[in-house]
Amino acid sequence: MTRETWATRLGFILAAVGSAVGLGNIWRFPWQTAENGGSAFLVVYLGIVLLVGVPGLLGEFVIGRRAKKSPVGALRDLSGSKTWGVVGAFSVVTGISLLSFYSVVGGWIIRYLLESGAAVVGGSPAYFTNPGQYFGGVSAGVDAALYHLLFLGLTALIVFAGVRKGIELGTKIMMPAVLVLLAGLAAWAATQPNAAAGYAFFLRFDPSVITENFFAILGPAAGQALFTLSLGAGTMITYSSYLDEDRSLPFDGSAIAVLNTSVGVITGLVVFPLLFSQGVNPTETGTGPGALFVGLAGAFSQLPAGTLIATAFFAVVTLAALSSSISMLEIPVAFLVDEYGVSRRRAVTGMTALVAVTGTVCAFNPGIFGFVAGPLVNVLLTAGLAAFLLFVGWVMGREALEEFSAGAGEFSKSLGTPWLFAVGVVLPLFLVFTLLTHFGVDTTIGFWPTVGVAVVASAAAFLGLRQPNSVV
Ligand code: TRP
Repeated sequence: MTRETWATRLGFILAAVGSAVGLGNIWRFPWQTAENGGSAFLVVYLGIVLLVGVPGLLGEFVIGRRAKKSPVGALRDLSGSKTWGVVGAFSVVTGISLLSFYSVVGGWIIRYLLESGAAVVGGSPAYFTNPGQYFGGVSAGVDAALYHLLFLGLTALIVFAGVRKGIELGTKIMMPAVLVLLAGLAAWAATQPNAAAGYAFFLRFDPSVITENFFAILGPAAGQALFTLSLGAGTMITYSSYLDEDRSLPFDGSAIAVLNTSVGVITGLVVFPLLFSQGVNPTETGTGPGALFVGLAGAFSQLPAGTLIATAFFAVVTLAALSSSISMLEIPVAFLVDEYGVSRRRAVTGMTALVAVTGTVCAFNPGIFGFVAGPLVNVLLTAGLAAFLLFVGWVMGREALEEFSAGAGEFSKSLGTPWLFAVGVVLPLFLVFTLLTHFGVDTTIGFWPTVGVAVVASAAAFLGLRQPNSVV
């Protein structure tokens, strides 16, 4: 059976941008920002996107395009060691964990979309009256579970249709729609009274907040940077495994990162002016996953034509969420197809059934939901990317450099060696360090000892994995 490939280069770029742009930009970002010190968080996060995100993205691309396999097979085949295959298998666990909570949030969004859309013809959406109470009533329980199943079903339908007819075609339609609607909303938000206060809040830069909280926000900021670029779960390995031509990976990777960051910023230019125009202060609306829903819904209810604007907004978010959730489902699906020769149909059906259950657990239990959506995902993505990059630097080595350069321009090629050094040494150390801060190690034993532990742990991880248990 021949493996599917993207029909066009643009198709690949849009699919990857579609994966990157999602609830991470629109919902998780404001929530994490509010929880982790506001503007300081933004600055650290942007720095990590640039210095870790882009080289990391290229690391995943190099693995995928070289191996033309999803993570498990890719790591195993390129190394000749089953142990690395087991490391790759973590991405399947990560993909399922991600989709389990993501689909619940996607369900909330669809609910708000339908609620708003139905009210356009007359009346006003139920969540206008008391946004906080409304969200509390629908965010967990039977309703949340049912909408989660609806969102998951839509995701499954797209993945079911395959790489070209499902993912590529779907994102080719969804991404332009997201960009146009979002730009329209941002332009409209600028006309709202007090929009300037929103811009000031969003773009304000206060260095002292960073210096005081740097290590506390490092972990969450790194987690969010990886999350927004879809790194650490093998999504980008899987997507690049469907590339059949050698085009410039550095170019594509930079384009994807720039587009994703732009969408994040434009979203901020919609959300923050809107909140401030209605006197809602994002740091005061309370933290937690509901912040966006409660704050924005409150703002929409005050606006002229608020129902229409709300419908447009939730439509954008639904499309952005779907183009991301398909990339999560594709990880375990591609694994089953590549490794066990299961048909795409059966792989999608089986995995959807599994996530229907795990997602329902998240839908019923806010405690589990919060744990999966926050710390668990942060840790899995950070550890996952560290492993991928150690692999690129130490197992692939020259081969990685060759793949990095294939199809790249002269300028990009000259960045190959510094890039390999970064992904092989600097970034894994950084990622292991942030992993330790997640567990509070730095506050317990201090900064330099933590760096020491990070060095030893990275070296041990590498040495342990370098010796193949059994070579296939
Ligand atoms: N990046 C997406 C967002 O911001 C979420 C996402 C899709 C993702 N696929 C992923 C995150 C893989 C981590 C890994 O909404």
